[in-house]
Amino acid sequence: MRAVAEAGINVALIKYWGKRDASQNLPAVSSLALTLKSPGTKTSVEFVPSLSADQFELNGEPCEDKGVLACLDEVRALSGLDLRARVVSQNSVLTASGLASSASGFAALGVAAWCAAGLPFEAESPRPELVHLVRRGSGSAPRSLLGGLVELDRETGLVHQLLSPEDCPYRLVIAVLSHQKKAVSSREGMRRTVQTSPYFADFAASNASDLAAAKEAIKSSNFEQLGAAMERSTWRMHAAMIASDPPLRYMTSGSLRVIERLEALRAEGIPVFFTEDAGPQVKALCRTEHLSQLLDALRSLSEPLDLQWAEPGPGARCWIEA
Ligand code: DP6
Repeated sequence: MRAVAEAGINVALIKYWGKRDASQNLPAVSSLALTLKSPGTKTSVEFVPSLSADQFELNGEPCEDKGVLACLDEVRALSGLDLRARVVSQNSVLTASGLASSASGFAALGVAAWCAAGLPFEAESPRPELVHLVRRGSGSAPRSLLGGLVELDRETGLVHQLLSPEDCPYRLVIAVLSHQKKAVSSREGMRRTVQTSPYFADFAASNASDLAAAKEAIKSSNFEQLGAAMERSTWRMHAAMIASDPPLRYMTSGSLRVIERLEALRAEGIPVFFTEDAGPQVKALCRTEHLSQLLDALRSLSEPLDLQWAEPGPGARCWIEA
């Protein structure tokens, strides 16, 4: 039985950075993210009696990844299945450059492996064991299990949907400034920030009020308040990163030029808000009706940008192929 799963990336409005339990990959803070329709990952998993070792192929190339093997081992333990798996994954996301490829990657892998092992999958309310499995692969991945605006709770490590994709009247533009892999992975970057940044505690302490403001804004459909909370959370995360020793500077001079253009557009009366993760790419959130103005503004920059826009999307979905 071959199970195929698809998941879109998600972009955090209220940021996750730092872990409170590294062995379970539990986050130090709660987070809130928008799952996108694309780009994303499509993965098939098949447990095959004749295989003597797990096989993993990513974008047509054989690949070794400890996280993938750990995920398969967990699914075998949960299901009692004792067969090796063939995993084939197609990723339309730039990997390891601050574009959350691991989020869609582990969501699709976890769901496909779960279904291939015959475990019961309910897309709207994934079982806690599945959420934990996916989160151990990557802390942001459980958010891609659900569609629209999704909260990941710090205490439980579980996810719930705040707004369905149909109820999210937003578009997200991703301005890709560099196609290079990031020098410091999120995992290492988080460890360094928690251990050495005097501002990490303040970032973590401010998470509750930023999250509350964002949730209030979602309830009252106040896009400006939501965007402002997203920018506060982003600046505070980057401030904590920059204050690490040695500093973690994912934001580049190019990122700042894009951010300044977005601020200027906002001053002209178009409500657009930015966020940035562990890489130089800037993501801009706007209401659906302002997408073309936002794209025009970014195209007017002399910066060589690869611009992609995305709409809110569904959570991970899975089907069986004969
Ligand atoms: C900056 O989920 O990639 O994108 O749990 O170590 O795999 P691990 O980290 P990861 O971190 C994402 C961090 C972020 C902010 C966010 O998505 O909330």
